[in-house]
Amino acid sequence: MISGTPGTGKTQVSGLLAKQLGFKLIAINDFAEGHNLIEETDERGSLVIDEEKLKVEIDKLSGDIVVDGHLAHFCSADLVVVLRTSPIVLEKRLLSRSWSPAKITENVEAEILDVILQEAVEVNSTVVEIDTTACDVESVVSVISDMIKNKNYGDYRPGKVSWATYFDMLSL
Ligand SMILES: Nc1ncnc2c1ncn2[C@@H]1O[C@H](COP(=O)(O)OP(=O)(O)OP(=O)(O)O)[C@@H](O)[C@H]1O
Ligand SMILES: [Mg+2]
Repeated sequence: MISGTPGTGKTQVSGLLAKQLGFKLIAINDFAEGHNLIEETDERGSLVIDEEKLKVEIDKLSGDIVVDGHLAHFCSADLVVVLRTSPIVLEKRLLSRSWSPAKITENVEAEILDVILQEAVEVNSTVVEIDTTACDVESVVSVISDMIKNKNYGDYRPGKVSWATYFDMLSL
């Protein structure tokens, strides 16, 4: 499972990882649409996916799969990778999308507060986080491939990435 705040690079990393490992690639939004798991489209145009049903459907899958999406960490997996990006860089990336300021702020704040990482460790036991701020997609993929092969997660256990120095960006 490749999860993380929007804009952290999930789709790019998942695509290359699946290609290099020869794993099947599942994009959660497409999967949810294909399996009737969409509850509604919210006022900002984002899909609202039924997380419980998603988990059930993903659990039915077998074989080697890379799952891409910011709900991926709610599903059971051998390994959950949470991609992290410095809030300043993430904000710049999200500003280049046609998103409302409120949606951008909400996501940058979620990144600062480790929201996805915390959700991931509540659901799954093997969770790692990778700070991709200064890495290109290829090097992130190579770190994840090595982890899958060696089952050595030491340097990437949750708690290594901290955006505490960015707390002044919070509007709370
Ligand atoms: N490691 C990286 N270094 C520099 N830029 C990156 C890196 N990873 C992704 N990007 C850039 O960040 C942007 C977002 O990447 P991507 O679409 O993969 O994010 P995402 O996490 O899948 O977002 P979403 O949740 O909205 O689908 C892209 O413009 C991509 O080029
Ligand atoms: Mg994506």
